[in-house]
This record gives sequence, C-alpha cells and structure tokens, in this order.
Amino acid sequence: MSNSNDARFSNKAEAFEASDDIPTHAIDTATIGDVIQQRFGRRDVLKGALAVTTVSYLMGGAASPVSATTGGTPSAFDFSELQAGIDTNHHIADGYEADIVLRWGDALFADSEPFDPNAQTAARQHRQFGYNNDYVGLFKIPERPDNLLMCVNHEYTSPEVMFAGLTASPKDNDLAEITAQMVDVEMAAHGVSVIELEQQDGKWLPLITSAYNRRISASNTEMSVDGPAAGHPRLQTSNDPSGRRIVGTLNNCAGGITPWGTYLAAEENFHGYFWTDEMEEKKGKQVRRKKGLGGTQADSYARYGVPGNWYNWGAYQPRFNVDKEPNEPNRFGWVVEIDPFDASSTPVKHTALGRFRHEGCECILNADGRVIIYSGDDARFEYVYRFVSANTISDDRESNKRLLSAGTLSVARFNPNGTVDWLPLTYGVGPLVPENGWESQAQVVIDARLAAKALGATPMDRPEDVQPDEQTGKIYVMLTNNHKRKDDQRDEANPRAENHFGHIIEMTAPDRDHAADRFNWQILIKCGDPSVAEVGALWNPATSADGWFASPDNCAIDGDGRLWVATDQGKHWNKTGRADGLYAVDTTGEARGTSKLFFRVPVGAEMCGPCFTEDYKTVFLPVQHPGTDGTEKFPGFERASTFEDPATRWPDFDDSMPPRPSVVSARKKNDGRIGG
Ligand code: FEO
Ligand code: CA
Ligand code: CA
Repeated sequence: MSNSNDARFSNKAEAFEASDDIPTHAIDTATIGDVIQQRFGRRDVLKGALAVTTVSYLMGGAASPVSATTGGTPSAFDFSELQAGIDTNHHIADGYEADIVLRWGDALFADSEPFDPNAQTAARQHRQFGYNNDYVGLFKIPERPDNLLMCVNHEYTSPEVMFAGLTASPKDNDLAEITAQMVDVEMAAHGVSVIELEQQDGKWLPLITSAYNRRISASNTEMSVDGPAAGHPRLQTSNDPSGRRIVGTLNNCAGGITPWGTYLAAEENFHGYFWTDEMEEKKGKQVRRKKGLGGTQADSYARYGVPGNWYNWGAYQPRFNVDKEPNEPNRFGWVVEIDPFDASSTPVKHTALGRFRHEGCECILNADGRVIIYSGDDARFEYVYRFVSANTISDDRESNKRLLSAGTLSVARFNPNGTVDWLPLTYGVGPLVPENGWESQAQVVIDARLAAKALGATPMDRPEDVQPDEQTGKIYVMLTNNHKRKDDQRDEANPRAENHFGHIIEMTAPDRDHAADRFNWQILIKCGDPSVAEVGALWNPATSADGWFASPDNCAIDGDGRLWVATDQGKHWNKTGRADGLYAVDTTGEARGTSKLFFRVPVGAEMCGPCFTEDYKTVFLPVQHPGTDGTEKFPGFERASTFEDPATRWPDFDDSMPPRPSVVSARKKNDGRIGG
C-alpha cells in the first residue's frame, strides 16, 4: 500500500524499492531481465530449485582473479542444510529449533492491553511490541546476568494487513481510507522497543515487569539533536524554533551497538513519510507531485526523494506536509543513540554521522580508542560512508555518549586497483567550499549525498549493511541489487549490468586500523543462481542448489569470523523461486565463498539482521512483513494480501489473527554453538 497513487506498488516495501530510482540514472534495458524471466517463470518456481553446475570462483583480488576449480571445499558450518523453497511457514535446519519471542502487539508492560487486531488504538500500541521488527541489539544486564536486554527497531507499517475493512485493493494505493486513528496507530507502531528477556524452560521470553522496558515511537518520544546541524535554520520548524528538539524517529532499519552499551537506530526511508497537497497529472491520472518542490531546498528534495508520498500522515499532521513544514524532512535521516539502561533518557540524533537513508550504523572500537561507524545509504547508485570520532573512549560512560557528536564523516571511492579511498566530507576541504555553494559543515551533513557526489564517491548497487569484524580487520558490504545499472555504468566494484541479485564486497583495513585513509577491497561473492550463466554468479563451487541466495541485506559475523547473511528479495523472490532466509557463508580458507541455507521465512516476509548471544548458542532472527511482498506470484494464492485475506497468518495460524511480524529465537536442540 502506498500513498503515491501509483498503481505499480502493491505495498510499502515495493514503494520503498521503487523509490530507489530517485538519483538521476534512469534506464530501461532488459537483456538479463528477459533471460531471468524465461528461466524463472512460474513453471520453474513450481519445479523447485535448479541444479547447480560448477562455476569458477574468484579467490584473488578484485582485479586479479580467477582460479577455476571443479570440486570446491565443503563449508566449515556443520549443520545439514535446509531445502530452499517457499511456503506459509518458517523453516530451520535439522537439529535446531525456532521459537517465537515477540510478535506485533505483544505486551511489553504489566499493564499492556491484550492484542486485539480489531480494536487496536494508539494508546494500546504504545504499550505493545511495534510493527515490522528489524534490527535487534542485545545487552548484558549487570544485576541479572542470566537475562538479556533487547532493543528492536520497528521500521515501518503495512496497513493493508494491519487494519480490517480497507476495501481498496492495495494495488490501488488509495490512502483515502487510512483514517486519522489508523495513522495514530501507525505512528505508535514505529520506533524502537526496549525489552528485558528471561529464559524459561530454555526459551527466551519477555519480562514485562522490567523497569528497563520502553517504547520509543514516531509520535510521543522527544529527541535531542547534536553535532554540526543542531539548531541550524534548516532544522527549525514552527513546533521547534530551536532546531534541537525532534519528536520521534522514522523507518528505523538496521542499527548498531556502541562499546559503552548504547543502542543506535538508523533512520532509513524517511522521505516516504512526507507528502504534498500539490497534485499533477501523470499518465492521465492526478497524482501527488514529487518533483520541483522545496523552494531553495529543491536540489536537496530532489536528491533525497522528498516528498515520497507513501503515507498520508500529512493529511492529519501538518508536520508531515512539506507545503506547511518544509524543514521537517531535514529532521530525519539521522542516526539515533538510545540508552537502553535508562527508560527516561532522551534519545539523541547525531548529525555528525550525516543525513541519508542509513541502512545501519555498525560500530567498532579502533585500536587507538576512536570509535568507527560504517553505514550504507540504501538506494541505487548511493554510497558507503564511515565516521571516525574526534575523541577516544574513556572510563566515563557519560562522556562516551558524546563520542558520536564530533568526528570525520567520509565516503568511499572504490578504485579499480582494489583500493578504497575514504574521502572526507569536511567543510572547506576539496570541493566543499563557498565557491561551490557550500557554506557550513551543517550544510555538508544535511546534504551528505550532494557533498559525497561532489567528492567523487563510487555509486554502488544499493549499499545495505556494512559490517566490520574487530578481530580480522575485515568489513563486509552488502550490496543488495541494482537492476538499473547500465552496461556503460559498470565498474570494478559494481561489475554487473542489471544486477538483479546483488553481491558482497570484503574490505580490509590495513593493520586493522579502521581510521586509515586507504583500505583494500575485493568481491567475496556475486549472488544469484550459479547454474544460469547469464546471471554471472560467483560462489565457491561447493555451494549447493539450496545454498546460493540473492539480495544480501543484513549480516552478522560470528566468533569464528564467519558471515551470516540475511536476504531481502522483496517482491522479486520469484526470480529465484525461494523465500528469503539466513545463510551461513565461509570467508576463509578453501571453503571461502561457500553458502548454506540455515533458516527461511514465510511467504511475503523478509529476513532481517541476525543477532547472536555472546555464547553463540542463541541467534535472534527478526522476521519482517510476513504475507506482504510478491504474494501475487505465490503459487495457489496469486493475489495481493489484505487483512481479511492474507497469504499467510504466520506465526499464529489463527483465523482471527492477521500475519504478525515477529522476532524468532533459534538454538541447537543439543545446546551447542549455532553452526558448530
Ligand atoms: Fe530497510 Fe535497506 O532495508
Ligand atoms: Ca533492505
Ligand atoms: Ca531490510
């Protein structure tokens, strides 16, 4: 469902993906697309996975490939692989069990009302687990070492399966039916949940009496602003003339954990929440205007896709209407720091980390005590960023909470020779000078995309998670896909035109110095079916027909430096005939580049980032938007889901319940480490 009045989208996730086209790189060729269509038509999906043939595997540097092998070395992961496929339920590898920890609407407090999908209100939602759980962060609780403190992002809402009685087909994107009361619920269902977990009979369950429990939402949590843009005129609105107090956080996708025990929630597709009253004609229909708005901020609006017009919050709340509050969009697209150990603390939006569609903000402590944050800007042809704090960590937690307030934001240029240069987004340096229209560091961070382009950053195939490994100095960059890349736009780091399936780049920080100006890079895998030559995939040949994947999105690194990759194919799952899932990927030795399927999600869902406990015996798996994406291609269902008629009612399978986004916990039945 989208408020764009654009009939191409059947739900928010599709609008999110389509919006990635905003940068000025439109194309329309379809050669590989044609092949994929022929190869992965519904017939092939029904037949199941295709056989894998041997492919060469790139073990060397990006520019110095290829050692073709015929056998391949088996993965170092010791579980028996799950079969790829798609149905209404989740599945986990043999020998493991998966339990539901928290579902949309579950109680977070002793006084939470029971969830009733037909009687949902904002007041109830503010005391319940939010919608579309994404990033999970875990903290140890000093006074209760057997328990965990869990933070969970609630990225967005899917009204078509949340609310009863929406008669317009989601295909029509008719937001007129979305009432003010529904919008209030949507806003309350966004944000972050903080919840203590305890183990009972070996299962992780919410402890609803914990004083740590908290709901942070889009509507009722005031946040402060720090860094170079705090108080800047472009952050000032009629409700906040100071430019330093912002209500709420939006579209929190992935995030990070700091070494001083705070939680980082990244604001991703914020542009979709803003709309305009201005209409224009498009293909004979009146649609909400997208281009040419913003007055003196027109270039910024255009580059950030503001207004996205996906939600009608602006119909009821002036601050989401850009005609009335043109600066409100500048107050989103930041990284928010939350202290989960103080339920009354004020979250902080750190403008030093730049404003863009932050997929995540993974944090690592450099050997010299500076703090490093890596972040991808999740849109086609956007960039990979790094922040290095100006100051170093100390024993004083309160002063550590100011480490993200000042530092150097840089953007990556991937050179053809296998090096990466980090280009500083610093006012007064290079092209970021008054002669080119740059007036302050505040402007540089507010318009980080424009500044990064001026510096010559490399436009990537939708950068999602950027995950560092403290032990090895490696950093893994998930590049989810970019079917808009033309043949003549290919480069060494984005080597495929019409990249439908994505790839993973491995960067190496020299001597594990994550603050260095120059890293090395190489491609770890190119995703997609290795048995279809036109796909151009690259895997260790030991990867089975079940083990390859498409559209890497989030990831985690385990204690052995191995990579766990979560996928998000959106509505394009039918191009692979398999649901999204969690895959175990070897990164070292002869098995490097081998992938095995560990867990898969129900139809219409996306696998979000895995989070391991410190002993690697439990992994928390957020399953987002079950029943929504691409259900038109789900054999036997073949229509868009609605509240009354969803493609799955996971996880309850109760006719009175809609599908509910949920966090799952997985463990080995015999109590070992996940993956061996
Ligand atoms: Fe929220 Fe980039 O996925
Ligand atoms: Ca994604
Ligand atoms: Ca995602």
